[in-house]
Amino acid sequence: MTDALPDPLTALRPWEAPEVTSWGRLPMNAVDRRSGALPLDGDWRFQLLPVPDAPVGGAWSSAYVPGVWTMQDTDDRPQYTNVRMPYPEFPPLSPAHRNPTGVYEREVEVPADWAGRRIVLRIGAAESVLLVHVDGRPVGISKDSHLAAEFDLTGLVRPGSAATVRLTIVKWSDASHIEDQDQWWHGGITRSVLLYATDPLYLADVTVRARYSGELRVDCLVRDTGGALPAGWYLTGELDGQLLAQDREFDRANVEDERVSDFLGEARLLATVPEVRAWNAETPELYDLTVRLHRADGTVADTSRHRIGFRDVEIVGRDLLVNGERVFIRGVNRHDFHPLTGRTVSYDDMRADLVLLKRFGFNAIRTAHYPNDPALYDLADELGFYVVDEADIESHDHAHEIADDPRYLNAFVDRVSRMVLRDKNHPSVIIWSLGNESDYGANHDAAAGWVRRHDPTRPIQYEGAAKLDWAATDDASDIACPMYAPLEDCVAHALSGRQTRPLIQCEYSHAMGNSNGTLADHWAAIEATPGLQGGFIWEFWDHGILQRVSDGRPAGRGGAGLYDNGVAAPGYRWAYGGDFGEAIHDGAFIADGVVFPDRTPKPAMYEHREIAAPVRIERYKHEGIVLSNHQHFRGFDWLAAVWVLSLEDGRTLTAPAELPELCPGETAAVPLPFPLPEDGGEAWLTLRVTTAQDLPWAPRGTEVCTPQVLLRAADARPVPVAAGSVEVDDEGLLVHPLLTAAPALSLWRAPTDNDELGGIAGRWRSWGLDSLVRKVVSVRRGAERSEMGVPPAEGWGKVTVTAEYAGTTGVVRHRQVFTPVEGGMRVDEEAELPEEFHDVARVGTVFETVAGLDLLEWFGQGPWESYPDRSAGAPVGHHCVPVDELFTPYLRPQESGGRHGVRRFTLSAPDATGLSVVLDEPRQVSVTRYRAEDLTAAAHHDELVPRTGCVVHIDAAHRGLGTASCGPDTFPSYRVAPGIHRWSWTLRVL
Ligand code: GAL
Ligand code: MG
Repeated sequence: MTDALPDPLTALRPWEAPEVTSWGRLPMNAVDRRSGALPLDGDWRFQLLPVPDAPVGGAWSSAYVPGVWTMQDTDDRPQYTNVRMPYPEFPPLSPAHRNPTGVYEREVEVPADWAGRRIVLRIGAAESVLLVHVDGRPVGISKDSHLAAEFDLTGLVRPGSAATVRLTIVKWSDASHIEDQDQWWHGGITRSVLLYATDPLYLADVTVRARYSGELRVDCLVRDTGGALPAGWYLTGELDGQLLAQDREFDRANVEDERVSDFLGEARLLATVPEVRAWNAETPELYDLTVRLHRADGTVADTSRHRIGFRDVEIVGRDLLVNGERVFIRGVNRHDFHPLTGRTVSYDDMRADLVLLKRFGFNAIRTAHYPNDPALYDLADELGFYVVDEADIESHDHAHEIADDPRYLNAFVDRVSRMVLRDKNHPSVIIWSLGNESDYGANHDAAAGWVRRHDPTRPIQYEGAAKLDWAATDDASDIACPMYAPLEDCVAHALSGRQTRPLIQCEYSHAMGNSNGTLADHWAAIEATPGLQGGFIWEFWDHGILQRVSDGRPAGRGGAGLYDNGVAAPGYRWAYGGDFGEAIHDGAFIADGVVFPDRTPKPAMYEHREIAAPVRIERYKHEGIVLSNHQHFRGFDWLAAVWVLSLEDGRTLTAPAELPELCPGETAAVPLPFPLPEDGGEAWLTLRVTTAQDLPWAPRGTEVCTPQVLLRAADARPVPVAAGSVEVDDEGLLVHPLLTAAPALSLWRAPTDNDELGGIAGRWRSWGLDSLVRKVVSVRRGAERSEMGVPPAEGWGKVTVTAEYAGTTGVVRHRQVFTPVEGGMRVDEEAELPEEFHDVARVGTVFETVAGLDLLEWFGQGPWESYPDRSAGAPVGHHCVPVDELFTPYLRPQESGGRHGVRRFTLSAPDATGLSVVLDEPRQVSVTRYRAEDLTAAAHHDELVPRTGCVVHIDAAHRGLGTASCGPDTFPSYRVAPGIHRWSWTLRVL
């Protein structure tokens, strides 16, 4: 544009004018425009300007739409910050000399048969300010990075010829200050661009209200580009092929002045559907609704198609009810994220997200922290999720100033109202959220007021309002929706008699790294405490971006397939904050999801799946096994099951299971599937529940849950017969042909993210637990009187080693008694932790084996990783996993791969040689290729070099995981106390 006059769009400097939310943008609506549209996705001409008012040059490269330029081949890279803005300017300003601005341009052939039609350009989403020009002429402005912007191009483009569309995207603006969500910063166009045409008379909006009772109301808004509405036009609606009531006259009842009626056109369709199949997240029944706008002669001028669901949402007392039921909210927070595109997600991606969530027992999504891609809501309707739809408002860094800043008033109301206008017809959306972490001010109340008038059918939530007083009744939130509240506070509130509204945590159980400890304790309390209804785990994704290690660039769309099972291919890694050279960043805090960046589920997902089990075993009684139905709306007819009995002696018996017909909430006893064998030791009965038929989210046979019950406890272990001898060197270290590092005391684990950010790892380091210095005190051979209870008669070949492990603030006394027994040795250990070491990571043994022992078989909890406070999803049984697959590749390497409740294990080579270990009682065990110090030293998974042998930990005590990277630590009952710890194990050669 070389015109002498400055371009009005840039002359306005809209990027630093919060009052300007849009210019020339069409109102948001819920009309479906997918059919017949002209997609404009693909490569566009592209150039990146240093600031928005820099001249556009002649040198163009290209960029893919939809896509952010920060993930394509430009020098403006992704940057991650959590709370703080990436620049110091106060709202509404942005960096004056560094504000990357992408100019996208392409020719568009406007179809000739669109002559006489109204032509609309839709940009699915652009961040953070969008300026639109067509053939050099200004068309409009839009902000609100996660909602579409539409512009009327009728008269600006000519059907049958080409027009040049230019989209200028300014990265930093006044809007960035209210889009300060905890995620990567990007710039560009993140959702599809398209052009569509309508009749000059068109459906401007459709609002559906479909009640649980079967009542249906469809309100339509009609507009005409010519102004006046012609007479005789009418509307029809069709529900699953059946015609609804007709309304031949537009409702002009409220219109007294003809001038006004020139542009006001409203019509309403009413119907009652008998025996309606109601929608809920368990049985998401949908109906097809087609709304048609007819010309006077009956021909169709416009059509909008909707998949609707009949359901009610209401708050009664302190309960949130769906169709009258107090449903539990088993939710997760989900961002629109992809490791190759940053923010652009395809329909298939979203479907895969939701399918996975269904398979792991989730029934709710909070669209943290902005309206998600429209297809997400279609999928939630179809697959069955309750959605908290959240507006794109987070002013975290400047929350207090902005919440009451009148310059931002428009933006708050605009963003909340546009979300409601877009998503109001989705049965899945049950709650509107005013945004996240933006303090609480008049701007929120203004937005809430708009919603309450426009959509009285759904509650509103806003954490920032409700947090001031959970029991308040006069703020902008209908739900008390705290984040990371201590469980005891939630329970106390529900028991206080002061509770006024449902308590559903908008975020809890922070999933950063190896985490989600105490999730089962939370759910036990939620299910037992009226007034508590669940919450949303933070969060679904680890936002690791696939990065080429050689040049530090994002792999981009070419990186497809360069990862597997949560691990990036050699030469690549999952980048987190700081990996793109950002000066200001918040590190690995961006990797805090229950799935890896490639959607591989973390072990915590299995924990969640079991906690959400639709079928539970309540108890084992004389008359049989008591089962219960833990759903809200359906029976067990969608499920199949088999009984599995695991005996300690290695036997596994199975029998087909018949699930009783139970309504939600009911219990029934079923007979024991087989007589319990008299021998065989400890016995666990598991009900392996699977899907009985193909479902939209799971093929037949997909495992749903594995509830289990103990039928018989273990017998006391026989004391092995003493035999043979044990070799110990002068340092008191065991010499054994299969061990390359002798069993030693370990108090250290590679700190988890919870350990680091919660502060405990710092204390461990200051106590010197990461570098304890071992000093042997004595090595006594032969039959001396043992202080450890080993009778002297069997102690002729035994060796007692006493050592001290010195930290900086205390010394641990450690004693090992090696007693030779048939085929191996028994090791009795005792460690005395001084008071100074009052809360350590673990107390146990670590040793290393020769190479080649690559298979772990165990009797205990599994098969997936489990820890003392995250073990509900790992049933006791016989498990067998290759050593290389035991480790969990958390983005920032940390303690991982543990198995809880292990009773015995073998580590073997393909020729069945190896070693076996029998433990005195169920213990925490891990077998990996890494020492704790290997993991501690690495910042990314690709820096780890696996050892050829195994690093084996047997823990007498292991600290729970908790969630202290953001939220409560593990409970005191899962911590490791000082004082004396004793444990023993028997090692044999196979
Ligand atoms: C919350 C916030 C989320 C995220 C989380 C920590 O405070 O709402 O956006 O930052 O903490 O990961
Ligand atoms: Mg935040």
